[in-house]
Amino acid sequence: MNNFVFQNPTRIIFGKDTEAQVGQETAKYAKKVLLHYGGGSIKKTGLYDRVVKSLKEAGIEIFELGGVLPNPRLSLVKEGIRLCREHQIEFILAVGGGSAIDSAKAIAIGVPYEGDVWDFFEYKASPQKSLQVGVVLTIPAAGSEASDSAVITKEDTLDKRGVTHSLLFPVFSIMNPELTFTLPDYQTACGTADIMAHIMERYFTPTRHVDLTDRLCEATLKTMILNVPKALKNPNDYDARAEIMWAGTVAHNNLLGMGRRTDWASHGIEHELSAIYDIAHGAGLAIVFPAWMKYVYKEDIARFAQFAKRVWNVDDNFFDLEEMALKGIESLEAFFTSIGLPTRLSHVNIDASRLEEMAKKATGNDAFTLGFFKKLTSRDVLEIYKLAL
Ligand code: NZQ
Ligand code: ZN
Repeated sequence: MNNFVFQNPTRIIFGKDTEAQVGQETAKYAKKVLLHYGGGSIKKTGLYDRVVKSLKEAGIEIFELGGVLPNPRLSLVKEGIRLCREHQIEFILAVGGGSAIDSAKAIAIGVPYEGDVWDFFEYKASPQKSLQVGVVLTIPAAGSEASDSAVITKEDTLDKRGVTHSLLFPVFSIMNPELTFTLPDYQTACGTADIMAHIMERYFTPTRHVDLTDRLCEATLKTMILNVPKALKNPNDYDARAEIMWAGTVAHNNLLGMGRRTDWASHGIEHELSAIYDIAHGAGLAIVFPAWMKYVYKEDIARFAQFAKRVWNVDDNFFDLEEMALKGIESLEAFFTSIGLPTRLSHVNIDASRLEEMAKKATGNDAFTLGFFKKLTSRDVLEIYKLAL
């Protein structure tokens, strides 16, 4: 096991009706907030009215910026920075999913910075200060509600980039599983792929002696495999929704990656897809992850066999290690298919025309390699895209 530091400062307020606490929680930090949200689902569900009521009752002055798109855009981040500066707003409340939260985080680090906020995403600068961000989560997926990162797309160049810094942890996240009852099945499924990918990016590691985190990863994956079909069958199944929502946070709040080298190649490969083709991040991962696995499993067949046995119950009395490894990959792909996800680029109408361009971009024209389970060059990434066709 490697040395590590673990600190996750986000206060999680979890359970039924917890959004009613948003006013009193926010009032601990600020009296003026930017309410930041997506394309309108929160207005349709009535959540917007409940959040505004709670904020007003706590005496908070509200400024608003809606319209965050899935795969959130830099231009809206800049608009948010402008608004916050103009009105001396001290706090950003994101109500929604990873897109609204990431956009809020980018605004928060952009406000006190004199240069272009995109500098942080190009590693030209590191955030020194930030406004604080609070969250009311409506979709379990990105894990941004308790993560230290934000992912933004620069629309003129179609670059999708992330920034990671401890300043990006939200100060609180309110998580009521009931708010996820209204999710379209496809969004539930995309969120599932993202959550499982966050676990698997950590699980497939070259680090030895990481038994506890292996078992925690396996338990979190199994919780998803058990509960997602229940939530799809009955969208109002509170207990299934609650398990999924908590799993989504645990998957990405850094706990499962402690003491081990994590991979993240599949995320790098996926971000090029959602940047150029604007598909849901989770759908992209359901396509990329099985292809990545097929390409790299020989690096550590025993680890893939363990994944098959412990997560997918593949019986090791009947198969050798390599067969086990392949059965695990098959099981993951079959699970994605069973919940309505695409698992091939052709399923989302992406052809081979831009694969080379994406493979080059994903590795900064081979300035760096992707991942640690196997270090991937642009050539490897291209082969993975081809396996996913
Ligand atoms: O925009 P609205 O109208 O709110 O609709 C959203 C959106 O269309 C809808 N939705 C959300 N909650 C709903 C709902 N519809 C009905 N009922 C509800 N309760 O779902 C759609 C997707 O929302 P979005 O916020 O885009 O989803 P997600 O949470 O999957 O976020 C995706 C973004 O997060 C980034 C991804 O790259 C992508 O840009 N990620 C962020 C990470 C982080 N910050 O740590 C890590 C991840 O790996 C990921 O890269
Ligand atoms: Zn992700």
